[in-house]
Amino acid sequence: MLMKTCTPSSVLLVCLGNICRSPTAEEVFRQQAAIAGLSIKVDSAGTGDWHIGHKPDERAQRHAKAHGYKINKLIARQINNDDFRNFDLILAMDAQNLADLQALKNNIADTENSMAKLALFSEEDPTYGGDDVPDPYKGGADDFEEVIERIESSAQAWIESWKAC
Ligand code: 4NP
Repeated sequence: MLMKTCTPSSVLLVCLGNICRSPTAEEVFRQQAAIAGLSIKVDSAGTGDWHIGHKPDERAQRHAKAHGYKINKLIARQINNDDFRNFDLILAMDAQNLADLQALKNNIADTENSMAKLALFSEEDPTYGGDDVPDPYKGGADDFEEVIERIESSAQAWIESWKAC
């Protein structure tokens, strides 16, 4: 039988811009962890630098709010080398984000063995496992709704997997 990973003390959610998917995932994860009684530090970041210092995309804010997630105070930032040292688990919204994170982690030239574990955000999800959370930036309202649906499902799956530990 596979050993379940126990609750990490910190989780970083990562997408490309840190203005649509990962800030939404940050707040969903924070709320679900609180409901489950898990004490986890949660943050988000982007692999890209275009939106550093920006609030979440207005559409992401609106769709999140409609589902009870207030993300208007979050500010985009870019992932940095210290994130790989400071977080237990870094979750990528899509396969490209995961490949970019793996390359960044491989480039950190030190011998530390306490670096963050990397995984796809959907990894534990019985419904969406292995799928990307599709980038909604050039999409419409349905795409932003789909982002919320997938994020809620995949976040819940991680929380369930830790509760079972
Ligand atoms: P996110 O969406 O990665 O979910 O924050 C995007 C936001 C901005 C861009 C791409 C994706 N962009 O190309 O500026």
